[in-house]
Amino acid sequence: MVEEKVRSALEKAREKVLEEKDYVMEVVRYLHEEFDGYAPPEALELAAHLLEVPPSRLYEIATFYSLYTLKKEAKHVISVCASLPCHVAGGREIIETLRKELGIDFGQVTPDGMFKLEEVGCLGRCDTSPNMMIDGTLYRNLTPEKVVAILEAYRKGVIE
Ligand code: FES
Repeated sequence: MVEEKVRSALEKAREKVLEEKDYVMEVVRYLHEEFDGYAPPEALELAAHLLEVPPSRLYEIATFYSLYTLKKEAKHVISVCASLPCHVAGGREIIETLRKELGIDFGQVTPDGMFKLEEVGCLGRCDTSPNMMIDGTLYRNLTPEKVVAILEAYRKGVIE
């Protein structure tokens, strides 16, 4: 199961990335997608082995960016962009909506363990601001209404 997900992450990253130097970074991103919002150490180690690079290269990326984590703290991790382009495109309202709807602040987990809210820098899609990511899935052109609907879909299990 772990190996299947790691191999899938490697394949997806390989399809997406042309430059070798960006490949490891993209692998870490896809590992988070495969494992629903985190990259367990055994997956990082296996990916490093398959890539024939030292595990430290993947650990450096997975521990440097606040977007990434090595352990699952909540069922779903919401990473909302707080950088300027998203901010001026309505990002402040998005953050306020998330805080209000979830009843938590950045770095906190809802009492039911369902969501963790994270503030992150640019997600690389400023053209569709404001943006947020949940477990590696990007949600674009957000409005407060869209945010409420997305949270509801996760709560009802329509999105898992
Ligand atoms: S500033 Fe939000 S995605 Fe770039």
